Amino acid sequence: MLCAVMRRVLTIAFALAAAVSFSACGDKSNLPADESASVKRGAELFAERCHGCHTMDTVGAEGGASEVRDRERVDGPNFNVRVESKENVLYAIRNGGYSGAIMPENIVVGKDADMVADFLSKYAGGQAKEQRSNSENKVQDSAR
Ligand code: HEC
Repeated sequence: MLCAVMRRVLTIAFALAAAVSFSACGDKSNLPADESASVKRGAELFAERCHGCHTMDTVGAEGGASEVRDRERVDGPNFNVRVESKENVLYAIRNGGYSGAIMPENIVVGKDADMVADFLSKYAGGQAKEQRSNSENKVQDSAR
């Protein structure tokens, strides 16, 4: 009897989880509707080519390390919290990250690279910026 109830609860839970993940799939980017076409394209390219190793909620990318214990060698920085300048993104794209050891070089080139860099330099670090703007973190920042 209890088992049957549990099974039912689990079935519902799975159905809900599936519904949530499907809806997350449909809407890959959370960019504002009035964002420029090139930044939107940069976000698409990032979602296609960079998501395997980097995390960024804006485009639903979950490839980076979020916990030290889960970390794999190929996991790159989490762009929810890491702020990037356009120059640094272009450098990383051309050279395969900063170390050149893991991330492949030139996954995107030319105008594509430029659009990815525009997108990342604008949106990377979004969560860090949010955290920084709440007063608790301001105190921590000034103590550093
Ligand atoms: C095979 C996994 C992999 C892929 C694919 C990948 N990266 Fe990386 N990336 C890494 C790793 C690992 C690092 C950190 C080590 C390093 O800098 O060499 C990194 C570092 C970076 C950095 C430097 C960040 C910092 O602050 O240290 C940027 C910027 C970056 N990647 C952007 C991108 C972009 C844009 C793409 C897609 C065009 C991409 N990466 C695809 C693995 C990857």
